[in-house]
Amino acid sequence: MGLLNGRVALVTGGARGQGRAHSIALAREGAVVVVCDTDTQIASVPYPMATRRDLDETVSSISAAGGQAYAAVVDVRNAEAVTDLVDGIVADHGRLDILIANAGICSFSPVAELSDDRWHDTIETNLSGAFYCIRAAVPHMARAGYGRIIATSSGAGRSGMANLGHYAASKWGLIGLVKSVALETAKLGITANVVCPTSVGTPMILNDSTFRLFCPEIDQPTEADARPRFENLNPMGVAWLEPEDVTRAVIYLVEDPGFTSGTVLEVNLASSANRQ
Ligand SMILES: NC(=O)c1ccc[n+]([C@@H]2O[C@H](COP(=O)([O-])OP(=O)(O)OC[C@H]3O[C@@H](n4cnc5c(N)ncnc54)[C@H](O)[C@@H]3O)[C@@H](O)[C@H]2O)c1
Repeated sequence: MGLLNGRVALVTGGARGQGRAHSIALAREGAVVVVCDTDTQIASVPYPMATRRDLDETVSSISAAGGQAYAAVVDVRNAEAVTDLVDGIVADHGRLDILIANAGICSFSPVAELSDDRWHDTIETNLSGAFYCIRAAVPHMARAGYGRIIATSSGAGRSGMANLGHYAASKWGLIGLVKSVALETAKLGITANVVCPTSVGTPMILNDSTFRLFCPEIDQPTEADARPRFENLNPMGVAWLEPEDVTRAVIYLVEDPGFTSGTVLEVNLASSANRQ
């Protein structure tokens, strides 16, 4: 028997990367998982976003392992579509117990050169997208007297970062949003928490745009060129986490009996150990 038998989960940005790892782990514990992702490439994102094929692969790998998963092509920037998705899950499965607001995008630009599009795309996906999901989910969770909300922020949600002002703003905002939700739902059986990963080896960072930023003097930098520079970013000297390293933190918060809420769990290779 899995610890999450009978539970229903929604994971946004679940087609690949961390969202895929979270979806697989939730299903392995017995939850029915609705895996949401978009099939639209956002123009200001400098690396390929997930495809319908990635989404189907996540769902079929869960099914092949004996789990239960469904694909939902929804862009989290679309508030109406997000509400319809959440209401539809409750109509079809009778409940929504777990929300993993993980969908996100990243791009690089100094603030002085940041385009309106890049700012709005990042805020709308990383912050408003999570807001739309949480707003739609909380009333159902409150009626059931149970809910686990986990949003994915970042190390950039705990400090400023050059070339990432738009991303950092979205990820700091997410922490304020989730802490507020934790206060509003504290007596309703719902917990709301944040995970803050440092670099994770997913297509979000393992791409040419990131390699060029980290290795500006190299003509066509590769992952091998970028790796030692990532290793220098944290005291452990590890280049990046695997998605499953973040999944452990997510599952910890999902399985918490209900007393941990409004917290930020950093999975960060000791990179914030010298800050308060
Ligand atoms: N990779 C890192 O170094 C890192 C570090 C800290 C935090 N994060 C955060 O972790 C989360 C997961 O990222 P990842 O590392 O797995 O990268 P990823 O690019 O592999 O996964 C992100 C997923 O979100 C989906 N997505 C993006 N915009 C969407 C939208 N508008 N609607 C629906 N889906 C959308 C993408 O298609 C993709 O499948 C993101 O919120 C990211 O900001 C990543």
